[in-house]
Amino acid sequence: MIDLIQSSTIHGIGHIFSATNKIFKVLWCILFLVGVIAIIVNIVFISMKFLSNPVIISYTFEHEPFIWPDITFCNPTDPYAFTINSQPYLHWIETLNKTKRVAGKVARQTSMSQLIHSRRENDYELEERTIAMSSADPAKLQATAFQNYLYRIGYIKAHKGLYFSKEFQSSSTKLNEDWKSLFTSQIVQMRNNIPCHTFHLDKSRIVKQKFIKSLLFRFKLNEESYKIFNSSYTFQSMFLYISNKDEIPQSNEIILTPGYNNVVQLTQNRHSYTGLRRTCRNEKFEAELYDSLLQSTEKYSGSYDDCKKIVSQQKYVKYCNCYNSFLPIFKNSSGFPRLCLNASIFSEAEVLKNAKCMINTFRKYAESDKARRRFYNRCKMYRPIPCNKVLYKIDHRKEILVDLWSKSTNDRRREIIKTLYLKTFQTNETSLDFVEKVKDNIMQLIINRDNESGDLYKEEREYPFSELLSDVGGLMGLWLGLSVIGLFEIVEFVY
Ligand SMILES: *[C@@H]1O[C@H](CO)[C@@H](O)[C@H](O)[C@H]1NC(C)=O
Ligand SMILES: *[C@@H]1O[C@H](CO)[C@@H](O)[C@H](O)[C@H]1NC(C)=O
Ligand SMILES: *[C@@H]1O[C@H](CO)[C@@H](O)[C@H](O)[C@H]1NC(C)=O
Ligand SMILES: *[C@@H]1O[C@H](CO)[C@@H](O)[C@H](O)[C@H]1NC(C)=O
Ligand SMILES: *[C@@H]1O[C@H](CO)[C@@H](O)[C@H](O)[C@H]1NC(C)=O
Ligand SMILES: *[C@@H]1O[C@H](CO)[C@@H](O)[C@H](O)[C@H]1NC(C)=O
Repeated sequence: MIDLIQSSTIHGIGHIFSATNKIFKVLWCILFLVGVIAIIVNIVFISMKFLSNPVIISYTFEHEPFIWPDITFCNPTDPYAFTINSQPYLHWIETLNKTKRVAGKVARQTSMSQLIHSRRENDYELEERTIAMSSADPAKLQATAFQNYLYRIGYIKAHKGLYFSKEFQSSSTKLNEDWKSLFTSQIVQMRNNIPCHTFHLDKSRIVKQKFIKSLLFRFKLNEESYKIFNSSYTFQSMFLYISNKDEIPQSNEIILTPGYNNVVQLTQNRHSYTGLRRTCRNEKFEAELYDSLLQSTEKYSGSYDDCKKIVSQQKYVKYCNCYNSFLPIFKNSSGFPRLCLNASIFSEAEVLKNAKCMINTFRKYAESDKARRRFYNRCKMYRPIPCNKVLYKIDHRKEILVDLWSKSTNDRRREIIKTLYLKTFQTNETSLDFVEKVKDNIMQLIINRDNESGDLYKEEREYPFSELLSDVGGLMGLWLGLSVIGLFEIVEFVY
């Protein structure tokens, strides 16, 4: 025993026994005790640190290639291309006329406008529009015809080889492809069945998305249509949404206004969480939603909020056996989805009954905390942030197309404007008013990717178990000179 202790790697103990002087024996004892206490205190501290799960955010540059997101346009201004006596125009006027009376009844006998913000008293515009939009035939209104307002899609490739000029913005190449195959239509974002159109670059067979540095869209709004649509709920702009592939666009829309060049810069960042600091989710909320003709459906993934909207819609379908047209419309597996306010399907009395049913259903859940909690429980699991997701950072700026606004444009510029846009507007006009018309109707959108690759933000354990072990070992060596070998010597001796 004495041998072991004297040769032990726990040097202090050996000295306690081998010291001849009593004073040194006491000093060695004290030193040994101090060492033991120091180790215990330190181990308590580092264990507390380990158990508190500290995290560190690490950052990796250029982690993965840039992926072009889905790009969605919604045009509440002139959602349909009305020109006097065109088919969409005639259908719209006829529907408005047919539904005016029932809209008045709904407005007077229900409190619908209170639920969807109304501006003036005795103003039935909202009800009139909602009911007309629910009763019209989207095919006759040409709800999928995005070509009515989009007249050019171009792209700019990433620069390669020799530069010819220091001007960095090279000119765009027209996307010569059947655009129809690159677009899907939906009524997910905008209320009143206003159609939106989503551009999917990844569906292109001609351009490889990894070579594309910028996308360019030129729009021609339809002022005439805006006037005919004649609604106080629209202003002359278009909405742009940037979203991950097949995801329901969230409500952070970018507003595009005519007469401007809009530049959007996209930075791609992947965020990866381990769930140490706060919980994260791997579950995806999914829903199957209709296109703008209410004919075919498409699978979308969505957020906690989207889940609540779909669950709300389920309540209207359950209690009223028809869809609330202010919410996304999920697939009806047994047939055509019937909108509660579609006066082409339901009689006046039925539309009124449906409207009352919608409001009663809303009240039922609005006024009971308990019912509401139970109801949102079904979406609870989609509440945490996703554990692993690409997010796009969006910078938007717009520059005025000065030549269109200025009264003092030089003649050459003016000539260019005219020749550029005469073809777009299919007119022979030469008047000054023509430039004014261009200003009110034309806008351009350029979407740039910031970098050909995206970065990664990763949440990691700052103090892993291996580090805890090495710290404990270090402490024992520092204070007592004890090592694993020394421990083993004790074990060997005991046997
Ligand atoms: C609207 O309908 C009424 C009959 O219900 C008809 O007399 C009137 O001409 C219609 N107006 C338009 C613009 O179609
Ligand atoms: C309303 O019902 C008519 C008749 O069934 C249908 O043709 C039309 O597409 C419906 N409109 C909407 C917006 O659902
Ligand atoms: C627009 O609506 C208002 C109010 O209903 C109406 O007085 C006006 O005549 C309409 N204008 C057009 C161009 O239809
Ligand atoms: C679903 O389709 C069936 C068959 O067409 C129809 O009877 C039912 O009303 C529809 N449900 C809704 C909520 O539209
Ligand atoms: C443009 O002018 C030509 C010849 O003057 C005429 O034939 C054509 O119809 C005009 N086009 C339009 C859209 O006014
Ligand atoms: C992409 O970003 C990285 C890191 O910020 C940078 O070093 C690199 O030059 C960028 N590449 C391009 C093409 O901008």
